[in-house]
Amino acid sequence: MDCYHIQGGVPLAGEYRIKGAKNSALPVLAAAVARPGIHEIHDCPCIDDVFVMEEILQSLGADTQFKDNCLVADTRNICSTRVPQEIMSRMRSSVFLMGSLLARCGEATITRPGGCKIGSRPIDIHIEGLKQMGFDVEIQGDEIKCRGRCRGGRVMLSYPSVGATENLMMAATCSREETVIENCACEPEIVDLQGFMKTCGFDVSGGGTNRITVRGKADNEIPVDTMYFIVEDRIEAATYMAAVLGTGGRAVFRNIRAGLMEAVLGVYQRMGAKVRSFDNVIEISAPAKLKSPGIVVTAPFPGFPTDCQPQLLTLCTGASGLTTIREGVFDERFTHKKELIKMGANIEICGKNAIIKGDTALRGCRISAADLRGGAALVLAGLSAKGETTVDNIYHIDRGYEKLDEGLRQLGGIIERRTSD
Ligand code: UD1
Repeated sequence: MDCYHIQGGVPLAGEYRIKGAKNSALPVLAAAVARPGIHEIHDCPCIDDVFVMEEILQSLGADTQFKDNCLVADTRNICSTRVPQEIMSRMRSSVFLMGSLLARCGEATITRPGGCKIGSRPIDIHIEGLKQMGFDVEIQGDEIKCRGRCRGGRVMLSYPSVGATENLMMAATCSREETVIENCACEPEIVDLQGFMKTCGFDVSGGGTNRITVRGKADNEIPVDTMYFIVEDRIEAATYMAAVLGTGGRAVFRNIRAGLMEAVLGVYQRMGAKVRSFDNVIEISAPAKLKSPGIVVTAPFPGFPTDCQPQLLTLCTGASGLTTIREGVFDERFTHKKELIKMGANIEICGKNAIIKGDTALRGCRISAADLRGGAALVLAGLSAKGETTVDNIYHIDRGYEKLDEGLRQLGGIIERRTSD
């Protein structure tokens, strides 16, 4: 098992190009199953979750090749509608195959998906939505079998779940009728999935609003070859920017539009960060002393993203004043609090709120990642801490960040990947 060794206290500076978004690449690759063809997906991040998705596609009969951030998936010969349990348990996004296999083959068998342990994470909204669309869903123990054809009509989500919105968009493509998904999520990655689906020839509109319409077409079975570029990763950008701010640095990020991360930039600015942006470049510099942003509540887009909450929590330990962060999306997402306390942080959890007493100079020590974003937040803690930090269990971080150590070294961070003893 690998770990990161970090020598803290070095202000990060320089330039970094943001990679393609994990949360877009995963549903896009799943959607490639919905339409037979050779799909060339560029700017695909080289991360473990994408490797797992590649394995899923292969297990269903697709041919894949992944080189230089370009994943080519040939989905003309899909021959299975069952995702093996072992792969399902490794990643939450395996659930997307429900929608794409239904669209392509009229049936799908999956088991309950795995993923980061950040709360209960049921899939009831996905299942309820499929039922409203007219699919039969049968649950036997851990196994979920879906079959049928979408009858169209109106589907109302009880909560704007990102994954359920994406799953239902894909499932709706097999209908000959119009399907309207209401109260859906508006995240930029959904707009990106819509872009890919349109490239595949599907008739989808409304992505980015809370009403998405999918219209049936007769030629969905005809193979098409596509080429698509994945949208930039706003969560990766927010993570690197927090690293810059936490170390008192200044850096320029390319391939990231400020419009995708207004809530995050707004909070960083409240903390004293200077932000300048032009087209798809953002420059960020830390103030002499970070100050508390006050109260921050995570919420579905365009709110403050839950995926940036752990990084913000780390940042607030060093800012002057008291911060309250309310986790409004997941039940248990303060997983790295215990490790930060080991480093000297002063954090209390009261229900959904984390109350952070700032002005702490963190001390380096040996800590362990428990999930993807919480793990990244510990790396940020190590970069801003005094002395040496070792972060164990970085396989969690590998799921969603392409060579995080390399990127941080590019900005002058002293961080090294080692094999744990
Ligand atoms: C996606 C992102 C994840 C991000 C999350 C929220 C991907 C691959 N992952 O996850 O990084 O943290 O959005 O922005 O895009 N819920 C239910 N029932 C359901 C579905 C969800 O109760 O059927 C609940 C969840 O437990 C959670 C909340 O709804 O509390 C949000 O989940 P959802 O939006 O579905 O997140 P994911 O799609 O899993």
